[in-house]
This record gives sequence, structure tokens and C-alpha cells, in this order.
Amino acid sequence: MERKNVYVGMSADLVHPGHLNIINRAAELGDVTVGLLTDRAIASYKRLPFMTYEQRKTVVENLKNVKNVVAQETLDYVPNLKEYKPDYVVHGDDWKEGVQSQVRQAVIDALSEWGGELVEVPYTLGISSTQLHKVFKEIGTTPDIRRNKLRRLLNAKPLLRILEVHNGLTSLIVENISIENEQGRCEFDGMWSSSLTESTAKGKPDIEAVDVTARMNTLHDIMEVTTKPLIYDADTGGKIEHFKFTVRTLERLGVSAAIIEDKVGLKKNSLFGTEVKQTQDTIDHFCEKIRAGKAAQVTEEFMVIARIESLILEAGMTDAVDRARAYIQAGADGIMIHSRQKEPDEIFEFCKEYKTFYRKVPLVVIPTSYNQVTENDLAEHGINIVIYANHLLRAAYPAMVKTAESILTHKRSKEVDFELFSIKNILELIPGTK
Ligand code: SPV
Ligand code: MG
Repeated sequence: MERKNVYVGMSADLVHPGHLNIINRAAELGDVTVGLLTDRAIASYKRLPFMTYEQRKTVVENLKNVKNVVAQETLDYVPNLKEYKPDYVVHGDDWKEGVQSQVRQAVIDALSEWGGELVEVPYTLGISSTQLHKVFKEIGTTPDIRRNKLRRLLNAKPLLRILEVHNGLTSLIVENISIENEQGRCEFDGMWSSSLTESTAKGKPDIEAVDVTARMNTLHDIMEVTTKPLIYDADTGGKIEHFKFTVRTLERLGVSAAIIEDKVGLKKNSLFGTEVKQTQDTIDHFCEKIRAGKAAQVTEEFMVIARIESLILEAGMTDAVDRARAYIQAGADGIMIHSRQKEPDEIFEFCKEYKTFYRKVPLVVIPTSYNQVTENDLAEHGINIVIYANHLLRAAYPAMVKTAESILTHKRSKEVDFELFSIKNILELIPGTK
């Protein structure tokens, strides 16, 4: 009798006995093809796997009872099922609810077209990927793995969502906060080390007065307690000779990218626009800085992203577009286009021009002033990274002022207590406190 074909879809990031149970059951039915979900397929509904596709493929190929491994490019099985027309699909029985329930129904419908059958294996108790992920996070990460994560995420997702951090505590929020919705798990992809919020947190102006050494100390705090990738706001990058050292230091710490803005002299925050004196760099000089940064880096993955201030400084769209072309030519791994307008129109106009570029690199925006735009709008215009650049600090400051004022008003803290995180909660917040 001809052997039957059996299809098993899986991510196989941390292979445990639950996976083997499914594969072994599948092997009883016939020859097993594993549809290994790509990073893109996994990132569409949950976090990026720890291991790359190639690493996971090597593991699965070497499992006893696996005959063949193919890429499953989407969470939806149907394209692969139509191609391979298996007699059976074998899956754990834990996908009847939640995001995967629709995927399951589509599998049943597709199989019925050629008389295939879905076989569900009882979920293996006592072991869970969620639990393993937690342990993994506690072990931490290495600079190499973390640094590479930004590029992996850019390849896996249409739009990355990045939030500002300025100390260890805020970085823990970005690391750990998630919500569940119809699309699955929703969380931040990485951190933005903002010059504005870090300077403000140190009580200093955002004028490069907090030097690189002080910024690196904060980065140490952040890197010590997190695993997500970080994009560093390098301001102007300083002098070309100095920027080379900054690049090496950032790489060594596992930072994924530095964004440098094309301004010279005393830097002021971009959101002032032309209200204060700010000078844009020449294209030639800024290109030299990009080239110097790229030449200094020792790893493949580190990214130098060029930030264009033409719209901020009212130098015009043509200037912005010309600079984008020149900066890419000089080796920039990404372009950030900034605006302080209340509407996203000029950003979208830039995107339209950008779409016509022959050579493109990831496009980054910081929609602080035009905050009505949605992530879907941004993705549709071809933007790859959205940075929420200052929001945690802006949330914390009014709450702290209110608390201080309440204590002054009432000569005690009781009145404000109900607005505060409880002592019990704060003692439980950081593991190991007890
Ligand atoms: C920052 O967060 O420090 C930035 C973004 O550079 S902006 O404040 O908009 O200039
Ligand atoms: Mg800044």
C-alpha cells in the first residue's frame, strides 16, 4: 500500500516533548513533512522566535521521524496544503480557541477538498513553550543575538513598533508589556534610547550635554535587564572622529542601530523646528560621517540610520529627497524622515517620492506631532519603523508632580495613595527583591 503523506506545521523554536509527541503520532500515519513557520509567519501573530529559520530547520531536519522540511510562509496553512495535498494534518488540540481557531477551520475546509483529515493530538501537559520562554528571558541574551534582532525583525514584519526608554525600569516596561487581541499577541519590538527623555530624566537640556559616556552607563542598565533590540539616538553623532568610537561602543553593547541627524553645531531638539537656531549639515560632510561610521563597525548587522531634518528646518521636500538618495548612496542602512507638522501630509509626500527610489533602505518615522496616524496608515505608506519617542517620560512626569503637590497640600501622603502603585506591588515588581 502506498504510504500516506502527513503534514505538521510548527515553529519549533524550543523543541520539547510536546513537539515530539505530535511528530511521532504523525509518523504512525505516514511520511512526515514539517511545514516550518518562517520568522515572518510567526511574527504575524506572536513574538519573533529565539532561533533563526535556518537554525530551527537544522534541528527539525535531524529529528527522527521527520522525512522532509518545507517553509510555511504564513500562519495560514492553506497555501502549503494546496501545494502538498497531504492525506493528514496533525496538530495539538490546543488551537481550537483564540487566534489559531480560524487557521484550524481553514485547514479542515482545505483538506475536505481532497478527502484529507485533521488529526488532533492531546496537548502535552507539564511542559509549555510560554514557561520555557520565561526561563529563556531570565537567562538573558548576548550582544550578538540582540544586535542582529533588529534586522531579523525588519525581515519578518512590515512595521516595527519601538518605544522610548530612559532607564532600567522603563526598559522593563517595553520588554514585558503585551496585550492579546484578535490578531494575537501585541507588544513592542524594541527600544528607543531617546536623547530628549534621557537628558530630561537627568535634569539636563537635550543639547548633547549628556555625553556619550553617561549615555552608555544608562545603556548598561537597560541591557542588563532586557533582551529586546535597541535603537540609539546618537544626536548629530558628534565629530566624525568621535562617531567612529561611538559606533564601536554601541556594537559592543549589542545595540542594533544608531540614528544620526544631519545637523551641526549646538544641537537643539527637532520639535522646536525653526523657533531656535539650528544648522543643517552639508550633504557632503554628513555623507562622510555615514561612511566613517560604516567603516568603523566590526559586525555585519549594526545599522547606521541617517535622519533627515530638511522638513523640520523648512528646507523643502526636494532637499529631503535629495539627501535621502545621497545618504543611501553613502551607505546608510536606514532613513529617518522627521516632521513637526500636525498632519502627516509632508511625511506621506516624502513616502510617495521614496517609493520611486531604485535603492531603498528601511524608513523610520517619529510621529510625535502628527500622532493621529495609525500604524496601519504608516505601514501602507511603506514605513518600516515607528518610534514612540518620549511617551513613558511624558506619562510619568505629571503623575510625579501631582503626587508631590498632594503631599504639600495635605501635609501627608494618604490622599494620593489610591493613585499610586501599592507597596506590595512595588516589592513584587522586580524579581529577586524578596
Ligand atoms: C528624541 O527622542 O530625542 C528625538 C526625537 O530625537 S525628537 O524629540 O522628536 O527630536
Ligand atoms: Mg534626540
